[in-house]
Amino acid sequence: MRIGLLGCGTVGQAFARMIAEQGETITRASGRRLALGRILVRDAVRTRDGIDPALLTTDPQAVLGDPNVDLIVEVMGGIDPTSALLRQALEAGLPVVTANKQLLSRHGAELLELAAAAGTELRFEASACAAIPVIKVLRESLLAAEISAVTGIVNGTTNYILTEMTRSGLSYADALRQAQQLGYAEADPTEDVDGADAAAKMAILSSIAFHTNVRFDDVPYEGIGSIHAQDIELARDLGFVVKLLGVARLAEGGISVRVHPALVPERHRLAAVMGPDNAVLLESGTVREIMLVGPGAGGTETASAILADVLSILGTAKGSFLQNALVDAGRPLLGPEQTSSAFYVRLDVQDRPGVLAQIATVFADAGLSIRSVIQRGEGDGAQLVLVTHVGSEARMTAALAAMRILDEVRDEPVLLRLLAEAAT
Ligand code: NAP
Ligand code: HSE
Repeated sequence: MRIGLLGCGTVGQAFARMIAEQGETITRASGRRLALGRILVRDAVRTRDGIDPALLTTDPQAVLGDPNVDLIVEVMGGIDPTSALLRQALEAGLPVVTANKQLLSRHGAELLELAAAAGTELRFEASACAAIPVIKVLRESLLAAEISAVTGIVNGTTNYILTEMTRSGLSYADALRQAQQLGYAEADPTEDVDGADAAAKMAILSSIAFHTNVRFDDVPYEGIGSIHAQDIELARDLGFVVKLLGVARLAEGGISVRVHPALVPERHRLAAVMGPDNAVLLESGTVREIMLVGPGAGGTETASAILADVLSILGTAKGSFLQNALVDAGRPLLGPEQTSSAFYVRLDVQDRPGVLAQIATVFADAGLSIRSVIQRGEGDGAQLVLVTHVGSEARMTAALAAMRILDEVRDEPVLLRLLAEAAT
């Protein structure tokens, strides 16, 4: 399966790397082997990490006219000349995967019609919320759920800027510069900060959610340009966080879709979505509320959604993933003793001199480091709570065995594990 790639910037390079690195998995899952054909760029002289320079071309026809190309992945962005190139590909019956919300939110309906007429496919998961599989969920899993509202943080750059202004007190300009360096922002970052990027995504999401063609021009939008550090502080004093929201609702028999900054109560689920993450809250009479959260921008994150679309087009090998021995990588399953975490241990102990030292010695002998200790006296006894740093389950088992045989420990220790980033 040869892929013609239109564009080789942040997302295109990540996609090229991913198909090289994940080749084995893709072949096991789909029964097909992916290879890159020619790659369209503006500057074919500049080298790109991990990309064979011989594949780069500035001639679109070298990609689209290659008789060996089976599928087109478009990650160049913009409307012109992209629109004409995708039409040409679809008319030739080539399946197309695109991350281009600018184009889809303006001409998506016609492009989908073209694809249908040519008996091919147009897929665009990466065009809204990058790695979050929201389009697949709306198009397939929730097709019959009668969605009544879609509320989302759908732009990673602005969420990153607002988060950094709030969390680290970064200036707007510095936070935007960081978002650009990290590859979150559009080629023209005004699309991010003025709300146009979010409006394009809301047009796509609401079109699918409400089975109605909503175009970019139908979505009024405001950006975050008017938000100052003092608005963020004042909102916090009032119990809110500031987010750029996309809001789409079925109302009065019609559809309303908008993008604007909003004060979100700090206990609301959307308030906890930080940095370049996106979230989409889907409401429906049938399934109540479903919230999808994850990376909303970034090269590899977006490439992952593109690859998922490519796999959907290829289809999976016969038999389900679990039943099909071909997709079994044969990885060993680790037993609990081979895992690690931080631990909370509560001990019911006799309250007498030296008990705490004894328990601390048990932890030290087991090689477990204590992070914090609380003791609550109760008559002649005490509840002693120790929280450890991350350590192995085997060490904790050894420590528990040693504590159980101490006379001063009056009852079976209570062990809970902490949800910690470093745990495995
Ligand atoms: P980018 O870094 O600016 O890369 C664009 C690529 O397309 C470059 O390789 C560029 O060539 C090529 N290109 C642009 N216009 C061209 C033209 N007229 N002819 C030939 N080649 C052209 O953009 P990106 O961040 O990868 O984004 C690509 C697409 O993915 C956009 O539609 C964007 O909205 C979407 N997207 C991006 C993200 C993200 O986090 N970055 C997330 C989701 C969706 P040169 O290298 O020679 O300049
Ligand atoms: N510039 C976009 C964002 C990339 O910041 O969300 C993802 O579409």
